[in-house]
Amino acid sequence: MTNADTHVGTAAETPGPSGATAQEARLPYRIEIKDLNIYYGDFLAVEKVNLAIEQRSVMAFIGPSGCGKSTVLRTLDRMHEVTPGARVEGQVLLDGQDIYAPNVDPVLVRRTIGMVFQRPNPFPTMSIYENVVAGLKLQKDGRHRGRAMDDIVEQSLRGANLWEEVKDRLSKPGAGLSGGQQQRLCIARAIAIQPEVLLMDEPASALDSISTLAIEDLIRELKSQYTIIIVTHNMQQAHRIADNTAFFNLAGVGQPGHLIESGPTHVMFNNPKNQQTIDYIQGRFG
Ligand SMILES: Nc1ncnc2c1ncn2[C@@H]1O[C@H](COP(=O)(O)OP(=O)(O)O)[C@@H](O)[C@H]1O
Ligand SMILES: [Mg+2]
Repeated sequence: MTNADTHVGTAAETPGPSGATAQEARLPYRIEIKDLNIYYGDFLAVEKVNLAIEQRSVMAFIGPSGCGKSTVLRTLDRMHEVTPGARVEGQVLLDGQDIYAPNVDPVLVRRTIGMVFQRPNPFPTMSIYENVVAGLKLQKDGRHRGRAMDDIVEQSLRGANLWEEVKDRLSKPGAGLSGGQQQRLCIARAIAIQPEVLLMDEPASALDSISTLAIEDLIRELKSQYTIIIVTHNMQQAHRIADNTAFFNLAGVGQPGHLIESGPTHVMFNNPKNQQTIDYIQGRFG
């Protein structure tokens, strides 16, 4: 192989350990959504989504109520199809592998991906400790026992910025925490399974402004390790935390939602291309 050969096809996708330009250092896509149609029974809720999400970045989904933000999010960990009659057409590639391929076990997909919901939902009768390990216990191989569990609990709670507040009361019920603490507990539970991707559906919408900012700080920290997709109806929040933003819209009630435009957040907010995006962003900010 000549010198020329070794350079062809490698320079662009393999940034060197040092001295790589910003462009070369761009991370590969972790998730690629291809021609995705999402149905509830006969109802086409979201039509023909094509979107790539870079690894270790924050992507925000914005758009009016009913445009399909939550529906798209739930297709990314195969939770959508848990609703009777719900199905998809198209592909969702996670690291190049279609999670909808016939040989893929949806349970395994859900274990690779952590989900955080709008309302903090710790298991009310379980302790803080038990809440963090709840997802791990579902893993059949029983790898995590005793000391290892303790370490995972500490790491996950530290990761969720909650450790210092709860380390002396791990055996107390999770339900005894404040709303913001409960949501961080749910984030700890989600990251305890060591997911590659974290999905968050309006994770701060039930929280006060101080807890919201704590969650936003946490999201900014977590993106160094995880690919994060967050649904938010709060445009300022998208502006503050998201590297990239995707705007969804629908023509009217009963019509399918569409992805209208996506791109770097600063472009989406300052210089969007599509008139629908412009109208939405001006309407919501103005
Ligand atoms: N479980 C369900 N069964 C039937 N239709 C649903 C269900 N959940 C959501 N939808 C419909 O799918 C569309 C998208 O909803 P959703 O994803 O919740 O929007 P968003 O999160 O953007 O507000 C809406 O028309 C909604 O009524
Ligand atoms: Mg929603």
